[in-house]
Amino acid sequence: MAESRIFVRVASLRDVREGELHAVEAAGATRLCLVNLGKGEIRAVSDVCPHQGFPMSAGELHGGEGVVECVWHGARFDCRTGAVLEGPATDALPVYEVRVEREDVLVRLPDRTGGAPSVEERAEGGGSRE
Ligand code: FES
Repeated sequence: MAESRIFVRVASLRDVREGELHAVEAAGATRLCLVNLGKGEIRAVSDVCPHQGFPMSAGELHGGEGVVECVWHGARFDCRTGAVLEGPATDALPVYEVRVEREDVLVRLPDRTGGAPSVEERAEGGGSRE
């Protein structure tokens, strides 16, 4: 299904500051949270906490560990894999592949028939300027 997914520009690189969470909307509907881990590593996760829907971009980034925390109930996720590190959430946080081209941050989104990225696709995700 990888062929059916497309990269969409979601932000300018200068708007995604190191150590911060940045909310964007892609394709007019998909709410994303961009994560700048530093050293050119940009990640994208869903901006909707899988526990009860709080915006992840309003949470906290523990950048050195690549951990994003939802501040409503304290769930923690690995922003590289989406894995739950600490409840109460039980479902993984969807992650999206990122590509940085010049000053543009692009995210690979599923097409209208696609679902969230598969585990295999998550493993290949992550953005880098290198
Ligand atoms: S809504 Fe995020 S931990 Fe509950």
